[in-house]
Amino acid sequence: MYSVRFGSYTAVDNAYLTIKGGEFFSFLGSSGCGKTTLLRCVSGFVEPTEGRILIGDQDMARVGPNKRPTALIFQNLALFPLMSVADNIAFPLEVHGISKRERRKRADELLDMIALPGVGDKKVHKLSGGQRQRVAIARALTVELDILLLDEPLSALDLKLRHHMRTELRTIQQRVGLTFIYITYDQGEALTMSDRVAVMNVGVIEQIGDTESVYDQPKTPFVASFVGETNRISGKILEQKG
Ligand SMILES: Nc1ncnc2c1ncn2[C@@H]1O[C@H](COP(=O)(O)OP(=O)(O)OP(=O)(O)O)[C@@H](O)[C@H]1O
Ligand SMILES: [Mg+2]
Repeated sequence: MYSVRFGSYTAVDNAYLTIKGGEFFSFLGSSGCGKTTLLRCVSGFVEPTEGRILIGDQDMARVGPNKRPTALIFQNLALFPLMSVADNIAFPLEVHGISKRERRKRADELLDMIALPGVGDKKVHKLSGGQRQRVAIARALTVELDILLLDEPLSALDLKLRHHMRTELRTIQQRVGLTFIYITYDQGEALTMSDRVAVMNVGVIEQIGDTESVYDQPKTPFVASFVGETNRISGKILEQKG
């Protein structure tokens, strides 16, 4: 359970949930509802004002971002456009002092995994948006980690590519077997890729469930209106039995 306050404003209000290892878990909610703040708490860039976060059974309080088994992928991928694909992917290893040969070997393995074999020597600016997206994921996977955090990573892509990347991301996640925590305002994305979804409304998680239950059995009026196409019919309760 944790909360984040900025002054008197509560950006994340008593978030209480457990995400399973190997799960594709999405947070779905409109702009400003606290998704990024919630995710940054997991990565360690924001400390909760209250409560705590456990990864495995380890309390993450005062554990810096670089000491956590997580990596965060942003919307703007922060790749180095003039460096080769392989150098981009292997960059975190270079920082760790791994030899050039080892780095290249690992980069090639990861390129196979993201279904872009043989493009290691290309410059990043020559790749398409979707290919760059996959390179950013490969780079995040070079170092050892348990959880990949994705903050609206597809929002810069055109619609067709976004649709295509949904399947790609799901495939990559299943191949590497890591926990993916994904945030988006796009219900289509959340509902097609995820094992489970948390629907958020101004800082509050209103419902957590598998995609079917969130779609078919909304627990609150907000979830009912936010997920799916809704026909709302007003009525009056005349009698209540039990
Ligand atoms: N460092 C900060 N200081 C003060 N307020 C902040 C800070 N970071 C976020 N907020 C506020 O907290 C709320 C939640 O912001 P957050 O970035 O988590 O939303 P979001 O759900 O990721 O939105 P979007 O979909 O637009 O990215 C917003 O009202 C925002 O203005
Ligand atoms: Mg955000």
